[in-house]
Amino acid sequence: MRLGNVMKKLRKAVFPVAGLGTRFLPATKAIPKEMLTVVDKPVIQYVVDEAREAGIEHFIFVTGRNKTVIEDHFDVQVELYNTLAERGKDEVLARLQRMQPAPGQTSFTRQQVPLGLGHAVWCARDLVGDEPFALLLPDMIMQSEKGCLAQMVDLYEKTGGNVVAVQECDPAEAHKYGIVGPGAAAHGGFTIDSMVEKPKRGTAPSNLYITGRYILQPQIFDVLSAQEKGAGGEIQLTDAMLKMKKDQAFFGYNYRGRTFDCGSPEGFVEANIAFALWRSDMHDYIAHAIDGLYGTVKPVERRKATR
Ligand code: UTP
Repeated sequence: MRLGNVMKKLRKAVFPVAGLGTRFLPATKAIPKEMLTVVDKPVIQYVVDEAREAGIEHFIFVTGRNKTVIEDHFDVQVELYNTLAERGKDEVLARLQRMQPAPGQTSFTRQQVPLGLGHAVWCARDLVGDEPFALLLPDMIMQSEKGCLAQMVDLYEKTGGNVVAVQECDPAEAHKYGIVGPGAAAHGGFTIDSMVEKPKRGTAPSNLYITGRYILQPQIFDVLSAQEKGAGGEIQLTDAMLKMKKDQAFFGYNYRGRTFDCGSPEGFVEANIAFALWRSDMHDYIAHAIDGLYGTVKPVERRKATR
């Protein structure tokens, strides 16, 4: 159904950062996983930068306990800025200021209890209001010349409705993800026929997994308000999207670029290597270092390697 609000400009983005980050303990005991750094920026900064590049003007964070440092990160640090200016560190100061949201551009709300991604999104309902919004999962970071959300906006401007970014995964791994079943091609994307969260092995409709970037219409909040639990006893966003699909169009966008799951230690290390290699000032040093380490550092028993 093409609703009256379908083509409203996309102005707001939601960042759910209330998860516990258990896969990353002990690192996440006191530090949120979104504040772990990839090269020299916290993971959350990559995701906010991607949203800004796509034209987002308001950044909504759904936080939990131990997450106040995220709010501090997006605040102006007056003393630091003054010191950098006094010391003539103009380049680093300019970089910080470019990343700085303007006054009033950020909002923070608490999920209180981590009942699942769908519940975290629902917590942003009053801050989003009656307009479409982007949803970016901050533990997935993307690497491409043009940001993933900006690519999705190009499709959204032609289709309206709801847009979900996908990429191909190893079919044997499909049971770990939210998977979509593709329909007909549409404007460089495709219509979505079906969606399933963590399908049982061998039952996935395709190997196209949902990468953590969405453009959604606000009616998703009405569906989520039923608070129905799905896989893992959590309130699942995929289940809510599936219900909304009865009334609204959903499009898949096959994202052109790399995706890193920074919620897992392996994905996080891979992201660090990939983003360091991507930087012209670091590429040669890191490539040389990897060459030197590979083949010379041998695996040891995990207990010894991690203590
Ligand atoms: P994950 O399941 O990957 O995050 O949720 P997690 O629960 O923090 O991770 P582990 O499994 O314990 O290591 C994907 C995204 O949804 C957010 C998370 O912060 C993450 O960005 N999330 C998840 C919430 O905000 N609230 C929730 O209740 C669940």
